[in-house]
Amino acid sequence: MFQVTDLSFRYPKGKDDTIKGISFQFSEGEVFGFLGPSGAGKSTTQKILIRILQDYTGEISYRGKDIRSYGRELFDEIGVGFEVPVHFSKLTALENLDFYSRLYQRNTDVEALMKRVGLWGDRNKRVGEYSKGMKVRLNFVRAMLNDPKMLFLDEPTNGLDPENARIIKDIIRVFQQAGGTVFLTTHLMHDADELCDRVAFIADGQIREIDSPQSLKLRYGRHSVEVEYREDNGIVQKVSFDMAGLGENDDFLTILRSKELVTIHSGETSLDDIFIKVAGVRLHG
Ligand SMILES: Nc1ncnc2c1ncn2[C@@H]1O[C@H](COP(=O)(O)OP(=O)(O)OP(=O)(O)O)[C@@H](O)[C@H]1O
Ligand SMILES: [Mg+2]
Repeated sequence: MFQVTDLSFRYPKGKDDTIKGISFQFSEGEVFGFLGPSGAGKSTTQKILIRILQDYTGEISYRGKDIRSYGRELFDEIGVGFEVPVHFSKLTALENLDFYSRLYQRNTDVEALMKRVGLWGDRNKRVGEYSKGMKVRLNFVRAMLNDPKMLFLDEPTNGLDPENARIIKDIIRVFQQAGGTVFLTTHLMHDADELCDRVAFIADGQIREIDSPQSLKLRYGRHSVEVEYREDNGIVQKVSFDMAGLGENDDFLTILRSKELVTIHSGETSLDDIFIKVAGVRLHG
């Protein structure tokens, strides 16, 4: 769907490149996560991919064609959720959506979507009177307005309570199941783990890792088993065993046979752990 090759970008007044030669691709139907610490260049990359920032070097193609060669048909196919929701605060939610709908040839069913995100009852309220989470949800509705094939979402659940975050994530899932493609920027590793087929970790304008959450966890995983058991004197002990050869590990088997187990966990690394590891590793010096 998108192929990015050796992309670099420097803001007009910047001393250094913000994006330093990154390459990645994602396919149709994929949810591709873009993860990294604050200031890494995630939002900048999204803005380049949707042609808001133009003075980049490198190649970006969409469906096999350079994005620079597209006219407005590109914007009929993609939906964009910006990092900071921008709405007309003196207009109602519905008036806002009406305004943006006119920019597109195709429109989604606004009523259904507004109901889904729980804003239909407040559709005639001025957006200036919306809470933060309501603005975030409205921002999401805006991204879906043109019934896109490809969604760019920059922190779509940022500032939402768990229930509303759940609704947005479910909509993303359904969108993918219907064949949609998603470029998802998020700080929330749990969301990334749940939604993304593959993730890229970006730090300091460079890509440090690209893989599926599952294989990243396996690669970075500690492959250990942590066991807590109660000694005969009542004291709880904690021991860690290598996953390999567990079935022949006498110490482990003795505990299983003769002690009261309190907890037992495999040492699968979370994406959070990987994030911290990857973001902290410097490639050069
Ligand atoms: N308009 C701008 N002009 C100059 N520098 C900018 C501009 N926007 C962002 N930057 C700089 O580019 C770098 C990357 O910013 P970007 O917004 O892409 O980060 P991010 O990964 O999205 O971070 P966050 O997780 O905080 O949203 C930062 O150092 C930032 O200060
Ligand atoms: Mg950002």
